[in-house]
Amino acid sequence: MPKRVGLLTGGGDCPGLNPAIRAAVMRALGLGWECVAIPEGWKGLLEAQSWPLHLEAVEDIVGRGGTILGTSRTNPYKKDGGPQAAMVAFKKLGLDALIAMGGEDTLGVAAKLHRDFKAPVVGVPKTMDNDLSATDYTFGFDTSVTIAMDAAQRLLDTGRSHRRIMVLEVMGRHAGWVALYTGIASGADAVCLPERPVDAKNLGEALRSAHQRKGVALVVTSEAVEFAGEDKEDEALDEFGHMILKERGVGEKLAGLIQKQTGIETRAAVIGHIQRGGPPTLFDRMLATRAGLKAMDLAHDGRFGLMAALKGNDMAAVPLAEATSKLKTVTPEWLSLLDQLCAPRAAAAAGSPS
Ligand code: F6P
Repeated sequence: MPKRVGLLTGGGDCPGLNPAIRAAVMRALGLGWECVAIPEGWKGLLEAQSWPLHLEAVEDIVGRGGTILGTSRTNPYKKDGGPQAAMVAFKKLGLDALIAMGGEDTLGVAAKLHRDFKAPVVGVPKTMDNDLSATDYTFGFDTSVTIAMDAAQRLLDTGRSHRRIMVLEVMGRHAGWVALYTGIASGADAVCLPERPVDAKNLGEALRSAHQRKGVALVVTSEAVEFAGEDKEDEALDEFGHMILKERGVGEKLAGLIQKQTGIETRAAVIGHIQRGGPPTLFDRMLATRAGLKAMDLAHDGRFGLMAALKGNDMAAVPLAEATSKLKTVTPEWLSLLDQLCAPRAAAAAGSPS
């Protein structure tokens, strides 16, 4: 009787999930396992839903964005008897192993199910936020930042024509990696991150001097930046307790603040979920494929409670509990590197030696 592995994708989707699914299924079939899809993340498991995953279902999805399994932000630990129902479903579906693909939330549930019930789960890290500890990169990040970088360059074109300051709001939740990489790679004059509250005065000075030199200036801001004195009491939350950030309107708020500070016409654009779709880049396809293969090898070897992780250029196995214990936020070293790319231009414009 062949062993059976279930696959689920949870949390925000991102390009790379389908190559990871494809690789895990192809590896499993090669090892003599059966594969089943668990639709819509932990929701599908709680409802004991599954459908067979054959080679034909996955062999051509390497270049497709999104996830063929569907996803949700369902948290079994927020439902009465949810964890127990999940374990009943494992038996009902005849699962010998489950590969959970997700970010801190989805893998956090997997870590708890393994801790509380010794559930035979293995993790594949994915998030466009790149904020998972214990892995150097998560797939989804390269593609989403490549899309955001393109958007930033387009904003520079139109801002230059109109002699404006342009603001691009990107996703990334409570870590600023997406905004950081997008800003550096697009030559932004300023980058606003959750790790550093907005300093309206300094921001205005840097942008005004950039605009004086070039006739345009670009700011890339994370959706989760903080403004001095802001009240976040009534923010809407999801089942994992995260603020639903799209309702904050950070880009527009920052544009208004900049225009007030500088007296220069300023426009904002929000890339939003556009950066979550589209075909995965080469980097993400290769990382996702390697992560899917690694995860299935861990499942086949019975090494549960672990996550496939990129360490340098090698795939390793790290404890799920370690990977989900704390968010990987932008480090002081990266903030210093960012300042070297923005501050000198402002200093040069002011005539002081950089
Ligand atoms: O976690 C990935 C992410 O894209 C965040 O960057 C963003 O804040 C959030 O998901 C958006 O969530 P949803 O797709 O549920 O609106």
